Amino acid sequence: QFEPYQEPFRPQYHFSPPANWMNDPNGMVFYKGMYHLFYQYYPDSTVWGPMHWGHAVSSDMVYWENLPIAIYPDTMGYIFSGSAVVDEQFSSGFGKKGDPALVAIFTYHNPKKASENARDVQSQGIAFSNDNGETWNKYDKNPVLESSGIPDFRDPKVMWHAPSKKWIMSLAVKDHIEFYSSPDLKMWKKESEFGKDKGAHGGVWECPDLFTLKVDDKDKWVLLVSINPGGPNGGSATQYFVGDFDGKQFNLEYPLDSAVWLDWGKDNYAGVTWSNIPEEDGRRLFLGWMSNWEYGQAVPTKTWRSAMTLPRSLGLVKTTDGYLLTGTPVEELKTLREDHAVQSNIEVSDPPVELDILDGTNNQFELKANISLNMSKKLEVKLSNREGEQVTILINTETNELVIDRTRSGNVAFESHFPAIVKGPLPPLDQKQIDLHLFVDKASMEIFINKGQLQVTNLIFPDKPYNKLLISADSKAVIDTLERWNLTSIWQ
Ligand code: FRU
Repeated sequence: QFEPYQEPFRPQYHFSPPANWMNDPNGMVFYKGMYHLFYQYYPDSTVWGPMHWGHAVSSDMVYWENLPIAIYPDTMGYIFSGSAVVDEQFSSGFGKKGDPALVAIFTYHNPKKASENARDVQSQGIAFSNDNGETWNKYDKNPVLESSGIPDFRDPKVMWHAPSKKWIMSLAVKDHIEFYSSPDLKMWKKESEFGKDKGAHGGVWECPDLFTLKVDDKDKWVLLVSINPGGPNGGSATQYFVGDFDGKQFNLEYPLDSAVWLDWGKDNYAGVTWSNIPEEDGRRLFLGWMSNWEYGQAVPTKTWRSAMTLPRSLGLVKTTDGYLLTGTPVEELKTLREDHAVQSNIEVSDPPVELDILDGTNNQFELKANISLNMSKKLEVKLSNREGEQVTILINTETNELVIDRTRSGNVAFESHFPAIVKGPLPPLDQKQIDLHLFVDKASMEIFINKGQLQVTNLIFPDKPYNKLLISADSKAVIDTLERWNLTSIWQ
């Protein structure tokens, strides 16, 4: 009875599919001025099924246009996750000189072999497009890479490695990453493995990504690896590694012992970065699937399931303990801002101070607070609505944690792992200053602390918009400035 994008809990400024099931972002590539987003898609149901690549495009990563399904499953199997590149080198022979082809590199998952417990269930295939990603031709000699006997063999992320003049594929193989090289995207040679004894191993490794970020003007290589289950707060999550890559091997520098996580929330999974972003832009742009395999297929939405996170720009900073991967919402999102409210110099302590800044209209807003903790060790921000549903965000400098409690956030009972208390490490603080940057979009809350040094993304399903903000602290703290913008809908 609802128009698409008008349904209860439908995100208004995040990407979500018009109808039915979506999971991982795929094939993210910037081409001729457009950001392409493909995604794991099952068009016949609101739960996972035979995978296709759905497709959308945007000129700014904010406003999206839905396009027809790009790649369909065939006799070799479902089309699982993968990446896309622009073949500027004309190495594959698919494009024309001066008019490079888009090439998608994806995993074929053969359901028949899976039901027989075969070892070669998954293989890599390629497809190309000569019309800006609108139509895709599968390569007639697929698959281009077959499993060496491990059933989990998937999610190829391919990049051009200029120093060795080769394509490099990072591939998730059960409990490690394998790197392959190719001159033409068709013939692949195994170069090395990484990770059997590194990082977290509470589940299977999936969706890798390998790229550089600058620290002190030098390039460092970052490897993202999603893992499910085994995340820091249960279920799916994405870990990262920092080191060097010489065209053959990834040499780890950080972390050597325990795993570190891109986002400590429960709902940012399988995220990777856009390829082919122009050098002048210089950003490393990321998007994740805003859900968790624990309950993704059970969330209380009717006509579609799930959305992507906000697009984020990644960075790397050096700290006393090692490297910290940062992620901040892209600048382009500022075009969503509508109605603005600001307050300044607010003293808070115990009992809580109520701040009259959320207008409770539609739960599509951005909130920014610059906080001086002063002598206080704990500060709690509570958002609640007329139904008494609430989320609390606790900054605890005693335990050095950010603690988000969504156990009373609204609809939580649809799956036992959903009503969670989520914890993430506070970054090293300068002068006990915290900036809290928060985005709510109907059914999600994305939190960024101190320029994205901590990212925490969680789904929430409140029945009414939050209209009340309470802040308390165990001793006198000051909110230097508090700003709120209502954000517009991209789907009208
Ligand atoms: C990650 C994942 C990938 C796989 C895809 C299947 O969420 O399990 O490893 O390619 O989803 O839809």
